[in-house]
Amino acid sequence: MHLFLLLTLQATAAFGQIDPAHCRYALGMEDGRIKDEDITASSQWYKTTGPQYARLNWEEGDGAWCPQGQLEPSDSQYLQVDLGRLTFLTVVATQGRYARNSGNEFARAYRLNYSKDGLLWKSWRNRLGNAVMEGNKNAYTSVINDLHPPVITRYVRLIPVTKVSTTVCMRVELYGCPWEDGLISYSAPEGQLMMPPGYPIASLNDSTYDGAHERRRVTHALCTHGSFSILNGYVEMEFVFDRQRNFTSMKVHSNNMFSRGVKIFSSVSCWFKPRLIACWEAEPVSFKTVLDDRNPSARYVTVPLNRRAAKSLRCRFNFADVWMMFSEISFQSGNTHTRTRDTILPTQMTLVVTSPPVTSYPPDDVNTPILIGCLVTIILLLVIIIFLILWCQYVCKVLEKVRRETTDRELKDSIGTKLSLKKQILKLDKHIFLLFLTGCGGGYAEPDVTQCTPHQCFHSNAPHYAETDIVRLQGVTGSNMYAVPALTVDSLTRKDISAAEFPRQQLIFREKLGEGQFGEVHLCEAEGLPEFLGEGSPLPERDGQSVLVAVKQLRADATSQARNDFLKEIKIMSRLNDPNIIRLLCVCVSSDPLCMVTEYMENGDLNMFLSQREIESTLTHANNIPSVSLSDLLHMSVQISSGMKYLASLNFVHRDLATRNCLLDRRLTIKIADFGMSRNLYSSDYYRIQGRAVLPIRWMAWESILLGKFTTASDVWAFGVTLWEIFTLCKEQPYSLLSDEQVIENTGEFFRNQGRQIFLYAPPLCPPSLFELMMRCWSRDIPNRPTFEGLYQALRPHVNQ
Ligand code: ADE
Repeated sequence: MHLFLLLTLQATAAFGQIDPAHCRYALGMEDGRIKDEDITASSQWYKTTGPQYARLNWEEGDGAWCPQGQLEPSDSQYLQVDLGRLTFLTVVATQGRYARNSGNEFARAYRLNYSKDGLLWKSWRNRLGNAVMEGNKNAYTSVINDLHPPVITRYVRLIPVTKVSTTVCMRVELYGCPWEDGLISYSAPEGQLMMPPGYPIASLNDSTYDGAHERRRVTHALCTHGSFSILNGYVEMEFVFDRQRNFTSMKVHSNNMFSRGVKIFSSVSCWFKPRLIACWEAEPVSFKTVLDDRNPSARYVTVPLNRRAAKSLRCRFNFADVWMMFSEISFQSGNTHTRTRDTILPTQMTLVVTSPPVTSYPPDDVNTPILIGCLVTIILLLVIIIFLILWCQYVCKVLEKVRRETTDRELKDSIGTKLSLKKQILKLDKHIFLLFLTGCGGGYAEPDVTQCTPHQCFHSNAPHYAETDIVRLQGVTGSNMYAVPALTVDSLTRKDISAAEFPRQQLIFREKLGEGQFGEVHLCEAEGLPEFLGEGSPLPERDGQSVLVAVKQLRADATSQARNDFLKEIKIMSRLNDPNIIRLLCVCVSSDPLCMVTEYMENGDLNMFLSQREIESTLTHANNIPSVSLSDLLHMSVQISSGMKYLASLNFVHRDLATRNCLLDRRLTIKIADFGMSRNLYSSDYYRIQGRAVLPIRWMAWESILLGKFTTASDVWAFGVTLWEIFTLCKEQPYSLLSDEQVIENTGEFFRNQGRQIFLYAPPLCPPSLFELMMRCWSRDIPNRPTFEGLYQALRPHVNQ
């Protein structure tokens, strides 16, 4: 029997606390911060096409870097940039040689090599294993490539690639941010497949890992030596830091899943090495965990490290069961006198390890039985899926029968009738109602036109969301398309859009703010926008600086459905006008790609903003830690209630109110938005029903989940959850201890209201009266929930004027 060792070092893991979606700053080719001497090349054609001319948007010299002679398909000419320090590189932009209309050379494709030390070079590959990126199609337009995965590097080489002999020239900009995490390497057992009996196979390898692979263990690229092993009943991990630190503690987020044999570790011992070239100190720090067999929740285990000084640590985790599963490991350290924020080392990783008594690494040919095992399991899974599909069809028939047996009359009478039917269905099987939601149960919920979006109001016969194909729930940019009835592509045209058409050539790209399945959000400078908008322009004063705007752009290859949804979003947004709702300024829809231009909110989204702050105290002041006061939090809550009050006054249902959808400008004014494009960031907040719909279930009222009923009252529920997020400083996802399936089960408890439902806890920061207000937002009976007007009136007096 083979025992599997399993490990994940995920992208977030390796990348610590950097968020790739926000780390996209120009690194200095265009603005000259990268000096000429740091830009080199394998060759140059002339002096005037040397590497120093490879700067994006520059026309100096002969307008670009061009390697010598014709580039052949077998050539490896490169342009090299030394970024001066380790950098988290996320985006590359390239341009050809335009030279004020006298040049026409460009690279149609290129590869990227990178190196942390200038000696050991790695080839960048995307997650599908492709190394070649699409380059330019003409000499002047810059083409941007997102690095998925991003890389941590100091040296970068761009290597133009060609299929035929040709001359190439390049100008480039690199985007990213400084890599400041103190951890420079880790070593841990290599990931494999998790095949617990009765559960799906999970491959938990680190697809972004760029270190060396040494027989069944991974050693991070910079690790000089990383010998650790899985020995009888324990696993060892080694961490190397940039400099010596006094470690106060290690926090390990460890999971418990008793039914799957996963338990937190029983004890851990850590050894310390003061310098890289030194022996491990004999005396370890050991810590025994308290194993509580009644409490199955995942938890942080804080291991005191007694302020031991070290540059490297090696920790041995002892198993308490068959598996250990770590989601995150962070180290806290301080210098000898004070404990300051910049010495806190955030280092995240997800690690799942089995505890077989593996004493040596198996030979390579063990892969064959593993492969056979995988294949057999895949076949078994396919059989199970086919069985489930057949079973689903059977259940659908049963539901249809139940539906028919319930007369139309009864259904229209009251929601109570609907609920009792739901109850029957829920009793049938807790999973069946999920199938029902996906539409296979057929719809029986009546369209509710008492509250609806503007679209629904003039399409009151539109089918209810629960009956519609919910594949498109998220809309093109994630905006409120959930239940907007289908308009045909032809039915939405330019004349429906009241926002003015802006000349797109006056939008100058600055950086990428977000990206989603259907498009991207860019930060752009908008030349002449104040004059274009004329008097009463809502733009903030920029003191002579150019105007910055956020530009959402639909992908050129978007389907006509996505296109139509994009236009619908524009149409809705162009009707909204409130200080706490994001403002649509203008559009570019007369040609492709379709763009909508909104205000730029300098402080990004509220979730990110709060999660990076602590509550204001003397400690935060003394240590310069970014903070917010309780009064700031209340002011934020009032602003959101005010924006929602406005939406409610228009009978507009938001459907996805959450801190991730609230943006902050530089004065901390909050504006409600709904940016599905940036949702890649928050995908874990959405639940995918049978691969078809994405639903923010942790923010949804019970009736939205069970009946597909979205109203202002269900927005009030989501507002309660948003308040909860604000007062926990977005440090935790709502119901973080419940899986998505358990959240849905809990929704059933909310519906049954027999006192078994789990409520979100009162955040310690939250005044009791405010928590009472949240609890009222989560009233089972819809009329008992407050209105947004009521919420606004209740919250406003708490804010210092
Ligand atoms: N991300 C998406 N839209 C944005 C905006 N308007 N301002 C800042 N960041 C954004």
